[in-house]
Amino acid sequence: MNLETLAIQVTRFHDANASAVTTPIYLSTTYERDSEGNLPKGFLYARGNNPNRDLLEKSIAVLEGGAVGFAFGSGMAAIAALFQALKPGDHVITTPFAYYAAQRLLVDVFEPWGLEFTLVDTSSIEEVEKAIRPNTKLFWLETPSNPLLHLTDVAALARLAHSVGAMCAVDNTWATPVLQNPIALGADVVMHSTTKYFGGHSDVLGGALVLAQEGELSLKLRQIQNLTGGIPSPFDCWLITRGIQTMPLRVKRSRRVPYL
Ligand SMILES: Cc1ncc(COP(=O)(O)O)c(C=O)c1O
Repeated sequence: MNLETLAIQVTRFHDANASAVTTPIYLSTTYERDSEGNLPKGFLYARGNNPNRDLLEKSIAVLEGGAVGFAFGSGMAAIAALFQALKPGDHVITTPFAYYAAQRLLVDVFEPWGLEFTLVDTSSIEEVEKAIRPNTKLFWLETPSNPLLHLTDVAALARLAHSVGAMCAVDNTWATPVLQNPIALGADVVMHSTTKYFGGHSDVLGGALVLAQEGELSLKLRQIQNLTGGIPSPFDCWLITRGIQTMPLRVKRSRRVPYL
């Protein structure tokens, strides 16, 4: 299936109620139990999950070639959830070319909370190597970076991160999965500000994380998402899911990649 088809196929489910071809928006905050007290569709309370967010998370995970996705109310909420999944005393390597608010988040919120971090030009593998400490747990990369389009070799840095027991996470907002798949290059985590190409119409804020594998981190992120509540509304999820359907066409046209 080519990406244009995939983007349409993964973003809809069969509507057993009315056979609508467009996914309905489920505004319900709470879901009914059956007579045994079970939750027939697995949904309980909309902060935990709901059909629109479920569809969005699965769609983004498929497009990034990951195992599991998490949707947030903004790109910044997605980044904050990943940093919260670390522990005070852990060390993060990142770049001064990363999105400015992500750097401020580290300086103003997570350094006082106990995270250590080093800013280093991640286009230089030698510089990154020099910055590694025994407590380095995460490489936070952004390539191409916003706004300077600074580039980082994801495959080389993912290998380096793994050799020292750290994770490699990539903010893939500007490339989108249409042009770059960090997981295929070895990254463990992909992040998106879905406010940009995913939403596509400047009318919805959103963010996402996709993990290469399920495991300890995915359980932790699901808990952070539910307990801190920085999640998108069902309507926001619906808008972003709709945006995905035209994203490959929009990205290819805007990057002047010859359209086939
Ligand atoms: C590369 C990048 N990462 C993260 C963000 C933050 O995303 P949001 O504005 O959705 O919180 C942005 C926003 O411009 C961005 O450009």
